[in-house]
Amino acid sequence: MKNNPLPRLDENKEVRKELLPHCRLKPGDIWSDPEGRHRVGCLDAANEEHVKKLHEGVSAKLAIHDPPYNLIAFEERQLQEFIDWCEQWVRNSVAQMSDASSLYIWLGADQKNGFQPLPDFMVMMRNIKEVTSRSFITMRNQRGYGTQKNWMAVRQELLYYTKGKSHFEVQYTDIPKILRGYYKEVGGRLTENGERSKSNNIRPGNVWVDIQQVFYRMEENVSGCYAQKPLKCIDRIIKSSSHKGDLVTDYFSHSGATLLSAEYLGRNCFTIDLDPIFCEITIRRLELFRQTGCLGWQNSHPFEDVFSCSRENEEEHKDNLVGIQPTLF
Ligand SMILES: C[S@@+](CC[C@H](N)C(=O)[O-])C[C@H]1O[C@@H](n2cnc3c(N)ncnc32)[C@H](O)[C@@H]1O
Repeated sequence: MKNNPLPRLDENKEVRKELLPHCRLKPGDIWSDPEGRHRVGCLDAANEEHVKKLHEGVSAKLAIHDPPYNLIAFEERQLQEFIDWCEQWVRNSVAQMSDASSLYIWLGADQKNGFQPLPDFMVMMRNIKEVTSRSFITMRNQRGYGTQKNWMAVRQELLYYTKGKSHFEVQYTDIPKILRGYYKEVGGRLTENGERSKSNNIRPGNVWVDIQQVFYRMEENVSGCYAQKPLKCIDRIIKSSSHKGDLVTDYFSHSGATLLSAEYLGRNCFTIDLDPIFCEITIRRLELFRQTGCLGWQNSHPFEDVFSCSRENEEEHKDNLVGIQPTLF
């Protein structure tokens, strides 16, 4: 089996040095999709001018942001400094959202450190008067981390806010309804909940248990990306909170998951990453999808044409593959 993984691209200085010359964008640059639908900016989400330059006055119907969580996977800042930084990029995003739009933000809570930064972030969000809190979603990971002395950590948190009267379309899981009951009289007749419901499957609600975490055997796995969100959860957000043709934004692109989902769901996407390597991965992932229909490189990687670190024995090296580690950010 072809097996050509990349190490974590934020950390490995040598690999970064080899890949940077193959990146189209330098800091400050913006790539425009030749098909006129998407933009990728090598920009700073917290910089108001950068965000304005990306949008050029085009407002978004939906924003999905997955910033660094101020946990172990990234450089950890002082809590207040991190929250101030978040407030800047949230304000930049809200300013570019239409009057009827939705905002989703992924964030974590460090159980060894007073659960920072999630509660502090939620309190800060009360200062953003343009948006209203709507839901606090938990997505369950399949793999967790922890010891026998604590509950295994398996959750990822997602905050949902709206600006004005935004669109929302109910979504359903693939999980069939198995419980009967909840009798209610409708038109003089006693009906059972299955008769009244619009679907035979359950709704995800605000606890999502049906989404497979990305791991190295999945086609969508992008080797070298250490914080990838599954396309299925992005699809769910986009389908529930936007229409075809709408603009979706994501200011922390990384593996380009939001842009890819926007592409096949018929939405447009403006996205940003500070790092030219993740901008290049985002563009290459879109190009790969358009050329082949594939969601990722699976056993290879986005720079396979210019860089190789092939390994012959997958079993021997599988623990080094990005994607098999629990998600900690
Ligand atoms: C948690 S990852 C996002 C993962 C993404 N949702 C995915 O599914 O691939 C965060 C990303 O934010 C980028 N980043 C960090 N600081 C940034 C900033 N100030 N502006 C834009 N991007 C930034 C990092 O380079 C990293 O790629």
